Amino acid sequence: MVDRVYNFSPGPATLPVEVLKQASKDVVNFKETGIGLIEMSHRSKEFMAVAENAESLLRELMEIPDNYKVLFLQGGASSQFFMIPMNLLGKGKKATYLNTGTWSKKAIKEAKLFGDVEVAYSSEEKTFNRVPTQNEYTVADDSEYLYFVSNNTIYGTQFPVFPETDKVLISDMSSDILSRQIDVSKFGIIFAGAQKNMGPAGVTVVIIREDLLDKAPENTPTMLTYKTHADKGSMFNTPPCFAIYGVGEVLKWLKKQGGVKAMEAINIEKANILYDCIDSGEYYRGHAEKDSRSNMNISFNLPTAELETKFIAEATKIGLNGLKGHRSIGGCRASIYNAFPKEGVEKLVSFMKEFEAANKA
Ligand SMILES: Cc1ncc(COP(=O)(O)O)c(C=O)c1O
Repeated sequence: MVDRVYNFSPGPATLPVEVLKQASKDVVNFKETGIGLIEMSHRSKEFMAVAENAESLLRELMEIPDNYKVLFLQGGASSQFFMIPMNLLGKGKKATYLNTGTWSKKAIKEAKLFGDVEVAYSSEEKTFNRVPTQNEYTVADDSEYLYFVSNNTIYGTQFPVFPETDKVLISDMSSDILSRQIDVSKFGIIFAGAQKNMGPAGVTVVIIREDLLDKAPENTPTMLTYKTHADKGSMFNTPPCFAIYGVGEVLKWLKKQGGVKAMEAINIEKANILYDCIDSGEYYRGHAEKDSRSNMNISFNLPTAELETKFIAEATKIGLNGLKGHRSIGGCRASIYNAFPKEGVEKLVSFMKEFEAANKA
């Protein structure tokens, strides 16, 4: 068997080895029941405990107030792009969006199907290399909500501080949930696909303030109404059992690391190791403007596309995998979510120095 490599994949992404080992046992025989975790009824007391554990750990780690529901949904984070406007907009209703990358663009497209959309800011002309500061946009007075993507996975930008608004604030936190401390009470909805910072693909976590559950127009399909899932504890239909289990195990691991506060400090340290290397000369160029840099996804370029191809190939040979940038911007990208070890970042940086020395123009 090949030893595990450092996996910089943007998602699905690297998970803690202890979680993978535990999962491999539980899938065959869960807690000595003689039944594998993915073979048991979602209504069994064993699985109900798994789901409750995942929810209560998330509530504890994110300090989620009691007037919020935690939902475990399917359809990927992408389904939230339409579920949000479907539940909160309707004819004549408006929402404001900040366009900071591919994922906000997709969300804007879907929102237009359900109401009026105002794009109050866009960095598209600058290849999405930055996020706005508060004074760069205004939120329309008649907006139902303000929507933004907290971390732009492809372009490697991240809001260092969140928008302030008296409107309902909604954030796609798919690629930075649980990576830094946040005040949930400032948000109406936070959602995230699990497959980057929380667990395996297959479940999307939605944290929703209770007063937003009653806003869906009457003709909203049952499965696409938040209230359906909130009323049934995410068990209206068969939930994605394995993914929910995986989230619970990752959250246990995260708690053992010291929780979100400790993780935030480690994440800053890891990202700084990489940014210091990029900033130390002209050879590597970060895609994001400095004030907008992400601590999760670090997108960068080398002097030429040929050198980037060579860099990625040589890195792969020494166990540094998944460094190819997204097809929409090319170049390289290192995704270093919570479970990505600091040693992997250090190994990448020493490789970057060696590669530069050996491949200077
Ligand atoms: C910020 C962000 N939002 C949404 C998505 C889409 O997630 P999914 O594939 O779960 O629909 C991604 C996927 O990478 C993402 O990075």
